[in-house]
Amino acid sequence: MPHASLAASHLPHSGIREIVDLALTSTHPIVRLEIGEPDFATPSHITEAAFDAARVRVSYVQTAGVPALRAAVGERIERAYGVAAPLDQVLITHGAVQAIDAILSAVVAPGDEVLVPDPAWPNYEMQTTLIGAAPIHYTLRPDDDFQPDLEEIRSLITPRTRVIVLNSPNNPTGAVMRPELVAGIVALAVEHDLLVVSDEVYDEIVFDGAHVNAAALAPDHVASVFSFSKTYAMTGWRVGYTLVPAWLADTVTRILELESSCVSSVTQAAALAAITGPQDSVAHMRDAYRDRRDVAVGVLEGAGVEIVRPRGAFYLMLPLPDGTDSRLAALDLVSAGVSFAPGSAFGRATPHHLRVSLASSTDSIREGLERFLAWRDAGALSHVASAVGEPVR
Ligand SMILES: Cc1ncc(COP(=O)(O)O)c(C=O)c1O
Repeated sequence: MPHASLAASHLPHSGIREIVDLALTSTHPIVRLEIGEPDFATPSHITEAAFDAARVRVSYVQTAGVPALRAAVGERIERAYGVAAPLDQVLITHGAVQAIDAILSAVVAPGDEVLVPDPAWPNYEMQTTLIGAAPIHYTLRPDDDFQPDLEEIRSLITPRTRVIVLNSPNNPTGAVMRPELVAGIVALAVEHDLLVVSDEVYDEIVFDGAHVNAAALAPDHVASVFSFSKTYAMTGWRVGYTLVPAWLADTVTRILELESSCVSSVTQAAALAAITGPQDSVAHMRDAYRDRRDVAVGVLEGAGVEIVRPRGAFYLMLPLPDGTDSRLAALDLVSAGVSFAPGSAFGRATPHHLRVSLASSTDSIREGLERFLAWRDAGALSHVASAVGEPVR
């Protein structure tokens, strides 16, 4: 029998998808707080630009992206972060997903090591695994606002390390990395001649403090990844962009050519309208996410749950007592009418957390968290203790 490659057969299943599937097939109504899908519609001027482009001609376009869009996102990066973003280093991709895939594929070989945060959005680990390289986890510490420890990262660097992945604002924690830690990670990369892949897809969703762009600190050692998905509620359009060091641009472009030839010309017209058009919807959505964060924090703190207050993105980590199995809890909560992503889906550092998505309406967030509290107060936690026998405290 033919069989899957060793690397592919090691790809983990998504712990979020398990809950999504259960919520979708549930016969009773579920308040959906497990998925990071903005509930806003793409602003209409963006959609109209796509219709207009589709009526003219839909054809192959440049692999690296149409020049007008590359120039526009390059100007945006320069304006926002004061870092040079020349046209030949700016690439348009199928969402941030493809940018991260192509960058890692360009620099990581089988047997190499990639430092990934824990907890983290699962793709970094999956892509590293598919390449045949090893993901090595550095911890975002729940007891320090989900910040990393530079000394831990330093201790994990070996001669096989090629990349440090950084993600701020962060999925799943909502943490915004402290500027001195971003600088510290970039400094480690420079010292050890590594590449930082800086996933900044939530850069426009920061509530407290300012976003720090890592590339501005050492442009030759950082590939910055951005997306239209979250900023403009354009998840389904599949378009993102990246600023890569000059030495990497041509290699990544050749990988994009192989993977997809180009991003759809229709999608790129929509993205151009998004980046050059009115930006009031960006601020409006950011304000809405901040309000939702405040509602969630208010409900949970009002019920005596101690949480790390999210400062960006649209997620919150809800701690369960030590000894709880977050997967079992998430499965049981679907029966109680609310879905969350289990912390175990994001790594090893948050086995006792649930990720709450704040991408749903305020009413849903309030209702969902109240269902959680009712479930907790009914004593359900004792049914979802971890199988290893650790007592629920
Ligand atoms: C941290 C992070 N990076 C990247 C992505 C993927 O973004 P895109 O839709 O642009 O591929 C997501 C999506 O949830 C994310 O949370």
